[in-house]
Amino acid sequence: MATLGIDLGGTKIALGVLEGGRLIQRSRITTPREGAEAVLQAMIAAASELLAEAGVPVAAVGVGTPGPIDYARGVVVFAPNIARFRDVPLRSRLEEALERPVVIENDANAAALAEHHLGAARGAGSSFFVTVSTGIGSGLVADGRVWRGAYGQAGEFGHLTVLPGGPVCGCGNQGCLEAVASGRALARDAAYAYAESLDTPALFARWRAGEAKAARIVEAAADYLGQALAGVQKLWDPEVVVIGGGVAVGGGEVWLERVRRAFERHAAGWRTAPLLPARLGEDAGVIGAALAARQGMPGDAEPP
Ligand code: BGC
Ligand code: NA
Ligand code: ZN
Repeated sequence: MATLGIDLGGTKIALGVLEGGRLIQRSRITTPREGAEAVLQAMIAAASELLAEAGVPVAAVGVGTPGPIDYARGVVVFAPNIARFRDVPLRSRLEEALERPVVIENDANAAALAEHHLGAARGAGSSFFVTVSTGIGSGLVADGRVWRGAYGQAGEFGHLTVLPGGPVCGCGNQGCLEAVASGRALARDAAYAYAESLDTPALFARWRAGEAKAARIVEAAADYLGQALAGVQKLWDPEVVVIGGGVAVGGGEVWLERVRRAFERHAAGWRTAPLLPARLGEDAGVIGAALAARQGMPGDAEPP
């Protein structure tokens, strides 16, 4: 049974049709900046187009969206990194327009599901997936399913307070992990240190070239992440930890090793899970959203 996955991001919306374990069709559009209604309409137009072109019957639609979710109502509570995205009734709007059952899932939960079943955590009994990009998100998968939490905000790893009184986060709190270690935080710190704007690849290039200013920024982020992971290991004790997202990809194995060392140092003798790079790259969100749709179907609850 084929399902459509939609990955809603702050800058782009990616879509794909999943059949078995493979994306057989895909497309992508830029996320409109004019708020929720424009985003909804763009999403509906792109999804309708892909459904028409799919060439196979598509039974259901899954959407991965940033932020906490009211799963019972299919409503996005708020998205810290998308302007004016609050209390958006994503499920009912899409069901009406696309005439199929729609499942809403947190974007990082969706990616976690994909990495668990088809990516780096394949074969593990439980896995914790972290994405470090513009924001920081995560998802915990156990027994093949995402743990959503009672209030739809389980695994909101990016909003753990790691630096009390630190920079203000998109969620309103101060000193969230996302406010000190995300791509956006790196860009902010780099702009301050260098008095010019540097994107993540440029910042990592300076770090690799041995610049002290770049090292301070990049290594502090790695250390905060490792510290937060040590907390997660003690709380949930996942079998493996998978890390992806633009910042993790840009940092490569050397940066990952730095995160690993901080993870172990802060675990202080407690066991830590292997920390693995994500395998599905940018496709994880779309694949995971499509898997979430599949899991939502009666009688076809099992992943590929
Ligand atoms: C949101 C998460 C999301 C992450 C990545 C965070 O700001 O709170 O729900 O998974 O960004 O998009
Ligand atoms: Na999540
Ligand atoms: Zn926050």
